[in-house]
Amino acid sequence: MTTTKAYKGIAMEGPIAAWYAKTTLKDVKRHKLMAAQLAKKIPAHDRMLEIAPGPGYFCIELAKLGQYQIMGLDISKSFVEMARKNAAEAGIQAEFRQGDAANMPFENQTFDFIFCQAAFKNFTQPVKAIAEIHRVLRPGGVAVIVDLRRDASQADIEQEIKDMGLGPINEILVRWTFQHMLLKSAYSVDEMKAMVSQTPFGTCQIDVSGIGFTAWLEGRAFDHGG
Ligand SMILES: C[S@@+](CC[C@H](N)C(=O)[O-])C[C@H]1O[C@@H](n2cnc3c(N)ncnc32)[C@H](O)[C@@H]1O
Repeated sequence: MTTTKAYKGIAMEGPIAAWYAKTTLKDVKRHKLMAAQLAKKIPAHDRMLEIAPGPGYFCIELAKLGQYQIMGLDISKSFVEMARKNAAEAGIQAEFRQGDAANMPFENQTFDFIFCQAAFKNFTQPVKAIAEIHRVLRPGGVAVIVDLRRDASQADIEQEIKDMGLGPINEILVRWTFQHMLLKSAYSVDEMKAMVSQTPFGTCQIDVSGIGFTAWLEGRAFDHGG
């Protein structure tokens, strides 16, 4: 039997997950800003799913801003364990589960709001992941996908790296990762729109800023079968 690997490249487990968590903790303001922006759009008590939360920093920042029912789903066992530990240490309520974005372990229409940041380009089945987002989102609910865009300029990338406030060795590592891995997997706005058009969402709004794009998708009533 052959199985499709759920992510591109190497698994974010063990020391790689630990390096990512340590490096991105220095850039926690990215999660604080995003949480502040999205909290304005998420009513209290809503069921929020973050797909691929990694160490869980965004969920933790969001939980500090309101009474949400927060769930995280990540393919990496190391990240699920880390996110649970980080949330417990921060004293916030959130549940983290292991699973694939393209085959989510949730019932239809479970969530009011879905968020996915800096991870969509890593999925090996991106169209299936968007269709799954539609399936688990309630009609009228909102999903937001934020990621690097393939046509980000070198100047934008340098600015982003500078803003991360890294040490010299991590700067070199992160620059290498952008050039040789991340940009190669990233999608353009037109590619994102083409993928969304193959799912029940049909269309989406995409904003572009700096190195990234933000895609806004709205859940519609749809018979998913079953
Ligand atoms: C670069 S990290 C981003 C983590 C976090 N969202 C952030 O902004 O720092 C990419 C994440 O995608 C997760 N991932 C990759 N493929 C996945 C899949 N098919 N389903 C769920 N998570 C996946 C990885 O385990 C990792 O946590």
